[in-house]
Amino acid sequence: MTQLFQSVPEWQEFKKTISGKTLGFVPTMGALHEGHLALMKKSMTENDLTAVSIFVNPTQFNDPNDLTHYPRTPKEDFALLESIGVPYLISPEISELYPDQYRYQVSEKEESKILCGAHRPGHFDGVLTIVLKLLNLTQADRAYFGEKDFQQLRLIQGMAKAFFIPTEIIACPTLREQDGLAMSSRNRRLTPEQRKLAATFPKVLREAKTPEKAIQDLRTQGFDIDYIEEHWGRRLGAVKLGAVRLIDNV
Ligand code: PAF
Repeated sequence: MTQLFQSVPEWQEFKKTISGKTLGFVPTMGALHEGHLALMKKSMTENDLTAVSIFVNPTQFNDPNDLTHYPRTPKEDFALLESIGVPYLISPEISELYPDQYRYQVSEKEESKILCGAHRPGHFDGVLTIVLKLLNLTQADRAYFGEKDFQQLRLIQGMAKAFFIPTEIIACPTLREQDGLAMSSRNRRLTPEQRKLAATFPKVLREAKTPEKAIQDLRTQGFDIDYIEEHWGRRLGAVKLGAVRLIDNV
C-alpha cells in the first residue's frame, strides 16, 4: 500500500520514524508515465525507501492557461504508484507548500534566463523554489531528475551545490516512445495527428546539420519554434504543436 501524506507536519513527524533508512525521492507534477516510473524504479533499487511527490506547482507556470490545462490524473497516478510498490506519496495542497504565499523565492541569474527561461519568464524561479522546499521537506538521501528537462536538471544541480544541499542529485536518461518522442505528461494533450507529427521533433533535432536548419525543417512541417540552440555540448529545443509545448535535447 502506498501511504499518502497531504500535510507537511504529518510527513515531518513520520520522517523521524524512518531515520535509519536511506530515502530516495522523485518529485513530479503527476500525469505519470513510464519515464517517471523509471526514475522511481531506480530510486527503489538504490535506496531502502522511496517517496514520490505529486504537486502541480503553480509558481512555475508563467501562462495561467497552461496551468489550467496541465493534465491531472490523480486516480491513475495512485494506481501506478501502488502497482510498482512505491511506499510514500507526498501530495499536499498549495497552502501547505506555500505558507509564505511565495514571498520567498530562489532565483538564479544566468543559466535560468536563456532557452526555456527566456520564453517562460519566472519559470525557473518557481522550479528552484519548489524543489528546494521539497528537498528540505523530504530530507532525502538522493533525488532523481530526468535529462529531458536538461536545463532544469543543471539548475537544480547548481542550486544543490550553491546551497550545500546534502541530497545527492541523480540525473537519469530520457525515456522515449518507440518512434523517438521523449516521454512527457504533455504528450497526452496532443491530437492523434499532432502526436504522429511530434516524432519529427527529436529526429530533426538529432539529424539537422545546424540549429538554423533544424528550425527551418521543423517550421516547414508545421511546428512553431520557441528555440533550437546548442549549449553544454547538447542541442536543445522547445517547439509548439497547437497549444502543446514540447521540449527535448540530444
Ligand atoms: O520536472 C517537473 O516535473 C517539475 O518541474 C518538478 C521538478 C517536479 C518541480 O515542480
